[in-house]
Amino acid sequence: MNKVSLGDLDVAGKRVLMRVDFNVPLDDEGKITSDLRIRAALPSINHILERGGSLILMSHLGRPNGQVVEELKMDPVGVRLSELLGRPVRKIQDSIGPQVEAAVNEMQDGDIILLENLRFHPEEEAGDDDFAQSLAKLADLYVNDAFGAAHRAHASVAGVARHLPGAAGLLLLKEIKFLSLLLEEPQAPFIAILGGAKVSDKIGPIENLLNKLSGLLIGGAMAYTFLKAKGTSVGSSKVEEEGIDTAKTILTNAEEKGVEFLLPEDHLLARKLEPSAETMIAEGAIPEGWRGVDIGPKTIDTYVGKIQEAKTIFWNGPVGIFEIEPFAQGSKAIAQALASSGATTVVGGGDTATAVEAFGLVDEMTHLSTGGGAALEFLEGKELPGIAALPDK
Ligand code: 3PG
Repeated sequence: MNKVSLGDLDVAGKRVLMRVDFNVPLDDEGKITSDLRIRAALPSINHILERGGSLILMSHLGRPNGQVVEELKMDPVGVRLSELLGRPVRKIQDSIGPQVEAAVNEMQDGDIILLENLRFHPEEEAGDDDFAQSLAKLADLYVNDAFGAAHRAHASVAGVARHLPGAAGLLLLKEIKFLSLLLEEPQAPFIAILGGAKVSDKIGPIENLLNKLSGLLIGGAMAYTFLKAKGTSVGSSKVEEEGIDTAKTILTNAEEKGVEFLLPEDHLLARKLEPSAETMIAEGAIPEGWRGVDIGPKTIDTYVGKIQEAKTIFWNGPVGIFEIEPFAQGSKAIAQALASSGATTVVGGGDTATAVEAFGLVDEMTHLSTGGGAALEFLEGKELPGIAALPDK
């Protein structure tokens, strides 16, 4: 992939419209619980400002379904960005229209404007070309740094590049570099650790990676779907019934390709999903009334051993319900083993990124992707609309 990059653009004295993925998690009070995605965009932001450009930033936040949703306004994001940059960020009340145009026309080099949530307009998700044009006319240049949204064919992601000279931002390029490495030249042994709830979400990337992998280590709720597919009793554990056939196909394909396929040999079981719930460790079949909530100590040892032998590791999906502290041991052990391994470690975004952040190990990973769905679709080998729309060099 050889896209025009931000470094190829002369941004001095230019207004740059940059799509970022500032879709950050918010708590019930509207406070940002992780600013990882904002910080990930700083290299591109600083690059433009240091070279004398001015910046119009645009993003979505949550899923407001084409309506103005008070709780999903971009204001807290603007405040956090301003704190991180140590300079003012002017937040505007809309993303297109005369008021936005007036604000943009007043901009001086080095100024930063943050537009309102793009998804307050239904035209954004519809990929409407008039909406893309209204955004494009705000600026001289377009940069896409929103890797997390690159799998969406939305107006700001896939449409604006039709109307402005465009380029890939530094984060987008970094994501492409590390995820491509997994697909193209992973150093062996290459293992993937997959967790999370649904087998069906991961089938595409698993199938696409099977030819490269030496081992596949499974945890999280997904493990119970695989165990059930193999005929093991899983008690009251969460199972994706519609995913059982998919699980069987993956098991067969992994065997045919000689990929070592590891399922948890023991489990932390709980009666309830509460920190104070009664728990026990069990091997083999899980009794009724008990639910698997984390991988057990033997499994942790086995998985850590595999991590220590590997040269390339991809991790997507926590291996237990890490949000509940007593059920976080497995995910923590995996994160720590990755942190201390000499391997190239690539961690898929979403929940896994949240877990790594909670354990304070973000800087210990070779690459922590800001994309959840986008990273999985990339690894599935799909062309992402946000990348395809950018011009080649
Ligand atoms: C994400 O959080 O994965 C991206 O920001 C995309 O959000 P979406 O799934 O609502 O399109």
